[in-house]
Amino acid sequence: MSNLKRLSDIDVRGRKVFIRADLNVPQDDAGRITDDTRIRASIPGIRDALARGAAVMVTSHLGRPTEGQFSPGDSLAPVAARLAELLGQDVPLVRDWVDGGAWHRDLAPGQAVLLENCRFNKGEKKDDEQLSKRMAALCEVYVNDAFGTAHRAEATTHGIARFATVACAGPLMAAEVDALTRALAGPRRPLVAIVAGAKVSTKLTILRALAAKVDALIVGGGIANTFVLAAGGRIGKSLAEPELVGEAKAILDEYPGKVPVPIDAVTAKRLAADAEPVLKAIENLDDDDMILDVGPQSVAFLRTAIAKAGTIVWNGPIGVFEIEAFAGGTRAIAEAIAASDAFSIAGGGDTIAAINKFGVADRISYISTAGGAFLEFLEGKKLPAVAMLEARAAG
Ligand code: 3PG
Repeated sequence: MSNLKRLSDIDVRGRKVFIRADLNVPQDDAGRITDDTRIRASIPGIRDALARGAAVMVTSHLGRPTEGQFSPGDSLAPVAARLAELLGQDVPLVRDWVDGGAWHRDLAPGQAVLLENCRFNKGEKKDDEQLSKRMAALCEVYVNDAFGTAHRAEATTHGIARFATVACAGPLMAAEVDALTRALAGPRRPLVAIVAGAKVSTKLTILRALAAKVDALIVGGGIANTFVLAAGGRIGKSLAEPELVGEAKAILDEYPGKVPVPIDAVTAKRLAADAEPVLKAIENLDDDDMILDVGPQSVAFLRTAIAKAGTIVWNGPIGVFEIEAFAGGTRAIAEAIAASDAFSIAGGGDTIAAINKFGVADRISYISTAGGAFLEFLEGKKLPAVAMLEARAAG
């Protein structure tokens, strides 16, 4: 990733450093953080700047609040508290920060503040130029460490980088781009992609783009059901998108043999933890059956494909892994990836939850903190925040 300037290359001593992180973490109804992976992943960049004598301001979005107004439910307050714990120092939360003020004047080397949800600012989502300039004026060095938001051209991810004196990538951004580039540009073959999850429509363009690049494209979940229909199989009352069967069929026809379609399934009459799991061949499904996981014959086929892979990219669980009776397919995939010596990369919230549940995190080569950005990168799209950093590095 030589075409990005990195934070580690910049002398930040005594300078004001603005770090855009992705601290958009899931919370429960009481506002408690349920998974702090993204906060922990942002710590090395913040710590590095602090240790080298920078005065650090960090911001992130949280959720999708209405711009121009403060909403307590979208406040970064719980994130500030967690950041302070992890950094072992105070991290005051600053509201209405765009035009600086006392907090900015007083921010000393070695100190960190968290700037309240950047999506409270009018113009953030539209990448407003005036807003971007005002924010750029707050710092001498702008660091984008928010790979999870790199697919958004917003004021804190894109516009500010245009106007900041120095703009560079933080260590998380650099690591994410490096890992994904390694997996997709000149990968060790065979390249196997696993794309699963509930819906085809959100991922169909990705499937098309991936089918052209990979040696095997393993589909799972609701996506696989649409492919089963396209291949003339039965899915009962399973989740699928019949209107996209034509698209799925086109992919199957265009890339014969590349997209294995499940031949057996673990089914039930309803989706519930106490529903009775019944193993069926696809052709034997009844109209009131739901496919909730792949069956052992399909798993065996997938295992073989994964075992042969040189590179694996994985997004989306294969079945309803949250319920033990329907977790077998996802567990088998996770374990097969963990056992393989391929370079493996996984991303997306559900995928990470599955990886953690099956205890294989330390045997996946790289786990991305990103969801949407990960998918857009896989699709081959240029991420606007990355493109901007490249443009700045080029001068
Ligand atoms: C994500 O969770 O995928 C990122 O934080 C981006 O969030 P957004 O979809 O609200 O832009």
